[in-house]
Amino acid sequence: MKLSHALAVLIIAWLAVLGRIQAVTLEVKEGNSTCIKAELSASFSVTYNASSSTKTVQVALPDSTTVDIASSSCGSDSNSPWLVAVFGPGHALGLSFSTNGSLYSVANLTLQYNLSDTSVFPESNSSDVVTVISASVGIWATINTTYRCRSPATFNVGGASVTFSDMRLEAYMPRNDLSPTESVCMADQPSTAAPPTTAITTTTVAPSPTPPGTPERGLYSVNNSNGTVCLLAQMGLQLNVSYFSLSQNKTIQELLNLTPNRTIASGSCEASSASLVLTQERTTLTFTFTLNSTTNKYRLSGLTLLANWTDAPAPFTATNTSLDYLRSTLGRSYMCNAEQTLVVVPIFSLNTFRLQVQPFRVTTNQFATAEECQMDQDQMLIPIIVGAALAGLVLIVLIAYLIGRKRSHAGYQTI
Ligand SMILES: *[C@@H]1O[C@H](CO)[C@@H](O)[C@H](O)[C@H]1NC(C)=O
Ligand SMILES: *[C@@H]1O[C@H](CO)[C@@H](O)[C@H](O)[C@H]1NC(C)=O
Ligand SMILES: *[C@@H]1O[C@H](CO)[C@@H](O)[C@H](O)[C@H]1NC(C)=O
Ligand SMILES: *[C@@H]1O[C@H](CO)[C@@H](O)[C@H](O)[C@H]1NC(C)=O
Ligand SMILES: *[C@@H]1O[C@H](CO)[C@@H](O)[C@H](O)[C@H]1NC(C)=O
Ligand SMILES: *[C@@H]1O[C@H](CO)[C@@H](O)[C@H](O)[C@H]1NC(C)=O
Ligand SMILES: *[C@@H]1O[C@H](CO)[C@@H](O)[C@H](O)[C@H]1NC(C)=O
Ligand SMILES: *[C@@H]1O[C@H](CO)[C@@H](O)[C@H](O)[C@H]1NC(C)=O
Ligand SMILES: *[C@@H]1O[C@H](CO)[C@@H](O)[C@H](O)[C@H]1NC(C)=O
Ligand SMILES: *[C@@H]1O[C@H](CO)[C@@H](O)[C@H](O)[C@H]1NC(C)=O
Ligand SMILES: *[C@@H]1O[C@H](CO)[C@@H](O)[C@H](O)[C@H]1NC(C)=O
Ligand SMILES: *[C@@H]1O[C@H](CO)[C@@H](O)[C@H](O)[C@H]1NC(C)=O
Repeated sequence: MKLSHALAVLIIAWLAVLGRIQAVTLEVKEGNSTCIKAELSASFSVTYNASSSTKTVQVALPDSTTVDIASSSCGSDSNSPWLVAVFGPGHALGLSFSTNGSLYSVANLTLQYNLSDTSVFPESNSSDVVTVISASVGIWATINTTYRCRSPATFNVGGASVTFSDMRLEAYMPRNDLSPTESVCMADQPSTAAPPTTAITTTTVAPSPTPPGTPERGLYSVNNSNGTVCLLAQMGLQLNVSYFSLSQNKTIQELLNLTPNRTIASGSCEASSASLVLTQERTTLTFTFTLNSTTNKYRLSGLTLLANWTDAPAPFTATNTSLDYLRSTLGRSYMCNAEQTLVVVPIFSLNTFRLQVQPFRVTTNQFATAEECQMDQDQMLIPIIVGAALAGLVLIVLIAYLIGRKRSHAGYQTI
């Protein structure tokens, strides 16, 4: 008891020291000019195998973090700009950037951690240096502006996660310091509501919509280049989004149903990835399915929502490319009649209803045999249990009746 208490206090103290979020400033230079500058706080959540179980630790990017000059670069024609920050014995965080001339974005995040560092990973089973990479994380800004996001934002990087907060950064910098113009992330926008002078000229306040019911189920398909159906999906879809509403002058959470007959489906099918793009007026929802050809399993690995709603001050974008939903086997479809909530990012999740999808190996325009989600299997158990109970009851009554009849027969015979 005493020992465990002491341990708990130690662990809390250790977390308080290590988990304290500090802001660091990181710069990548070429000669005398700065090309990437970032001011940010970051923390990492890493799960690893320890002697008796798996453990999860929370690590903050420490004050002592420095830029690894040898690995970092301002980029060239063939290489993209890369900011590599190093801390502790062999831990590193990398941000790779890309641009198309008008926007720049964080193309991927890299996290490297050294499991030999027992001060961070006590009792680790391994002494490996692990490197994990994310795909695009949805951090983007107009070129010649500073990306700003004070709100915490969490990104999955392989099995680990990285949370940034108090972030200001710029790549492809035109000057040696952060540009004064900021591109503010969605999560921060309430605090930067339009100034009253412009707000006065905005349109009349719209009544907040009543929550919609269960969405209608739509059948969507994607065709190959030769016209054959290669992806099938049948589902009801509901978006659960938080955004800053101009008409209500505050951040609101809203449920929006997709209406099948106003939704256009497109997409593409490749050997190991397939996408379904659903467009309803100002809303575009993209599903990305990935096939693992070693295990012959597929999953929904990415979801992106882009919307230019008139009531929002800026286009709404939310994306996560390291999801693991709707898992099934190649040659089968995935089915879930129960409502499912697919969390994409904190400000966007997707509710699915009566869903069946098959992103690979569709033959003759039809779904193959379905693999059903756990929720459906659990729900199927209820009628089975009720049925079994009823059957048991009937049997008991029947036996009781038969015994009763036999007794009364026996009774008559003795008279
Ligand atoms: C950098 O600046 C220093 C002094 O301001 C100057 O002497 C040096 O030549 C500059 N180097 C480059 C590559 O511009
Ligand atoms: C933990 O060990 C198991 C079995 O050795 C392995 O499958 C799993 O990937 C390991 N997990 C981590 C986080 O390293
Ligand atoms: C870690 O290693 C120990 C001893 O080799 C082993 O008993 C334990 O199962 C391992 N833990 C995990 C989660 O792999
Ligand atoms: C990992 O940590 C161990 C122990 O702290 C250290 O000896 C080793 O050099 C580190 N590895 C790297 C690649 O820095
Ligand atoms: C860059 O990408 C954005 C978003 O995808 C697009 O709106 C813009 O037109 C692109 N700019 C150029 C120059 O291609
Ligand atoms: C990260 O993104 C950059 C820019 O698009 C790319 O050059 C690089 O190969 C990517 N790294 C990985 C590991 O995917
Ligand atoms: C960014 O700023 C630089 C230097 O001020 C300028 O040359 C360039 O045209 C600007 N780019 C855009 C897309 O505005
Ligand atoms: C919006 O809200 C902010 C703070 O809550 C307030 O200062 C501002 O006047 C409001 N604007 C309008 C148009 O109501
Ligand atoms: C259609 O094209 C796909 C590849 O794009 C191919 O696998 C398939 O066999 C073709 N189907 C027909 C009927 O030609
Ligand atoms: C869409 O479907 C609804 C109900 O099924 C129907 O009332 C409406 O007229 C349809 N709209 C169009 C444009 O087809
Ligand atoms: C909003 O997006 C839709 C497509 O999603 C497009 O047709 C429409 O022109 C866009 N409106 C504005 C104002 O950008
Ligand atoms: C496929 O799955 C195996 C086993 O889970 C995994 O080791 C491998 O990295 C996966 N491949 C891809 C391309 O995701």
